[in-house]
Amino acid sequence: MSAGISLAGKVALVTGGGRGIGKAIAHRLATAGAHVVIASRKLENLQATAAELRGLPGQVVPLACHVGRLDQLENLVRQTEAQLGPIDVLVNNSATNIGQGPALDVTDDMLDKMIEVNVKAALRLVRLTVPGMLERGRGSIINIASIAGLKPQPGGLLYSFTKAGLIMMTRCWAQEFGKRGVRCNAIAPGLIQTDFSEFFWKDESYRTTLEATQPIPRVGQPEEIGFLGLYLASDEASYVTGQVFTADGGNTLL
Ligand SMILES: NC(=O)c1ccc[n+]([C@@H]2O[C@H](COP(=O)([O-])OP(=O)(O)OC[C@H]3O[C@@H](n4cnc5c(N)ncnc54)[C@H](OP(=O)(O)O)[C@@H]3O)[C@@H](O)[C@H]2O)c1
Repeated sequence: MSAGISLAGKVALVTGGGRGIGKAIAHRLATAGAHVVIASRKLENLQATAAELRGLPGQVVPLACHVGRLDQLENLVRQTEAQLGPIDVLVNNSATNIGQGPALDVTDDMLDKMIEVNVKAALRLVRLTVPGMLERGRGSIINIASIAGLKPQPGGLLYSFTKAGLIMMTRCWAQEFGKRGVRCNAIAPGLIQTDFSEFFWKDESYRTTLEATQPIPRVGQPEEIGFLGLYLASDEASYVTGQVFTADGGNTLL
C-alpha cells in the first residue's frame, strides 16, 4: 500500500523504467502492489533497478526492449503477459532528444528518429495493449509528455513537437476509449534532475535563472512525479481522463 492507494492484482508496463522518472513511477506502482515490467534497451541497468526494488509488495521484472523496434515491442507485450498476466496500466515514458539546436539544422533523419521513439512507440504499444483492456473494460494509459509540449522549448523543435503530439494522442485516445473503461492521461514535467536533462540542470547559468524565477525555485526530483503516476494508474482517478497534469514547480506561469 502507498498513500492509501492499492494496485494489488494489477499489472503495469513502464517503458524506460530503469532510471529517472520511469523508475520513480515503477517504484510507486510496485509499492502499491502492482506487478511491474520495466523495459528499455540496457538490460543490465534494468536488472540493477529490479534488484533495488525487490521486496516491495509487487514484483518488478526487467525486460530489454528498444521501443523504436516493432518486433521488440511485440515481444515485450507477449513476455509481460506471459510472466505477469494481462496489462492494466501502460506508462509510455521512454524518450530521446536528438537534434537540440537551431530549427533550420533539423534533418529528415532526426525527425524520423524522434517520431519513432517519442511518438510511434506509444502508438504501437497502445495498439498492442488496449484491445485487451477494452475487452476487460478497464485500463489506464499514462503518457509522459513535457511542458515542452505545452510551450516551445528554445532550440527544441523536435522535442516540443513530439511531446505536443503525445499530448494530442492522449486526448484522442481518452475520447475514444472512455466509454469502454480505459482512461488515458498525460504528465507534463518541468525540469527534473535525471540523466536525460543534465544538459540543462548542469548548466550553471540555466540553473541559476531557474532558481531565481521559478515559483518553486529548484529543479524537481523524479520522486515528485512518481505519486502522480500512481494516482493516475489507480481507481482513485476513475473520473479522470484526457488530462495533462503539469508538475513543473510553476514554470509554465513564467
Ligand atoms: N528530466 C526532465 O527534465 C524531463 C522533463 C519533462 C519530461 N521528461 C520526460 O520524462 C521521461 C523520462 O525521462 P527521464 O528524465 O526520467 O530520463 P532518463 O532517466 O534518462 O530516462 C530515459 C529512459 O528512456 C529509456 N530509453 C531511451 N531511449 C530508448 C529506446 N530507444 N528504447 C527504450 N527505452 C529507451 C532509457 O533507457 P535505456 O537507455 O536503457 O534505453 C531511460 O530509461 C521522458 O519521456 C522525458 O521526455 C523529462
